[in-house]
Amino acid sequence: MAKTYKLGVVGTGGIFRGAHVPGWVALPDVEIFALADISEAALKACADELRAKHGIEVPAERQYTDYRKMFRDAAAGKLPLDLVDVCTPNCYHMDPVVQAFKAGAHVIVEKPMATSAREAEKMIAAAEEAGKMLMIAQSFRFTPEALLMKDIMDSGAVGRPYFAEAVMLRPRGVPAWGLFIDKKASAGGPVYDLAVHILDLTFHLLGFPQPLAVSAGTFLEISNKPSVMKHDPKRYTVPEDFAVATIRLEGGIVVDLKTSWALNIPGHESQVRVCGDKGGLQLNPVTLVREEFGALMNSTVQVNPYAGIASHSEEIRRFVQAIREGLPSPVPGEQALKTQKVLDAIYKSGETGREVRIR
Ligand SMILES: NC(=O)c1ccc[n+]([C@@H]2O[C@H](COP(=O)([O-])OP(=O)(O)OC[C@H]3O[C@@H](n4cnc5c(N)ncnc54)[C@H](O)[C@@H]3O)[C@@H](O)[C@H]2O)c1
Repeated sequence: MAKTYKLGVVGTGGIFRGAHVPGWVALPDVEIFALADISEAALKACADELRAKHGIEVPAERQYTDYRKMFRDAAAGKLPLDLVDVCTPNCYHMDPVVQAFKAGAHVIVEKPMATSAREAEKMIAAAEEAGKMLMIAQSFRFTPEALLMKDIMDSGAVGRPYFAEAVMLRPRGVPAWGLFIDKKASAGGPVYDLAVHILDLTFHLLGFPQPLAVSAGTFLEISNKPSVMKHDPKRYTVPEDFAVATIRLEGGIVVDLKTSWALNIPGHESQVRVCGDKGGLQLNPVTLVREEFGALMNSTVQVNPYAGIASHSEEIRRFVQAIREGLPSPVPGEQALKTQKVLDAIYKSGETGREVRIR
């Protein structure tokens, strides 16, 4: 019989229940085996939902209000755990990831990987020491549009890229629920919540060149005003509601980033564009721009071979496939560390008003 992978979860809140569970239950060789959350209510809600919707029973002795106890049990051989899914708020990513590696599991952790490059480096070191896989759940890479865009980039149709644009702008769209607007828990606002997705996708399309320097502006002009936002403005402690950055990458590539939870613009914008010497490619809708027949032509997609793929389920499927088949991590920590260094530099540049060099 094929091996069954036993999964331990840390953080049984919104993203795990809403987006990860469908991915895990679709895999016949994975068993959702143990749950950990500091909130007894979140544990119970998750266990009840797993039972009602999927017929999965996680007994009380495998429900933990302290994830460290779960990992101690695993390390002591009392709880078999092969895989761990970390879905806690951003500031609680590093410790459970490191503890999971010490307990001998492979780990997938939600984005953003960490709240600083130092934390990300510790997570990578723990994975190396354990000889286990670390994958960052950068789900935007696994949408049908992003998967197709990557194939087109890799075909060489764009040629040598030299400019990219990464835009995710909400005119009004502060996630006031949970801990997104809490600096201690989340570290940042739209830069951590949204830019991390589109930067990861942009860098992925470009082949993850080394980031060299960032010149950024970070602003908090709208979201902390009670006249605009309904939530208690004092709860809004993250440093920005809008950020703009010019990011220099090795190979002479420049990336232009814009991201907001609140900005006075007429509507939402979500776009990734990569421009090269042979062509240009954009995400929404997937369009390839090239000179052909003496004209500048736009090619759009009629049938996307990846249509129907759900990004979170796909990231989980690829995580387990990589473990099963001994493949590299689909989103390695080393790549997310590069993005994390850019996030750190955006805030530093925003604060100082100067270009920040990245090492
Ligand atoms: N990929 C995406 O599109 C996407 C979307 C939403 C959230 N996320 C990420 O997922 C993570 C969780 O977000 P969410 O929306 O599920 O938040 P949430 O608040 O709904 O869930 C987080 C859960 O973690 C638990 N928790 C908090 N501290 C803990 C600790 N120290 N130990 C154990 N459990 C703890 C909370 O009780 C809660 O149940 C964040 O890092 C967020 O950035 C990703």
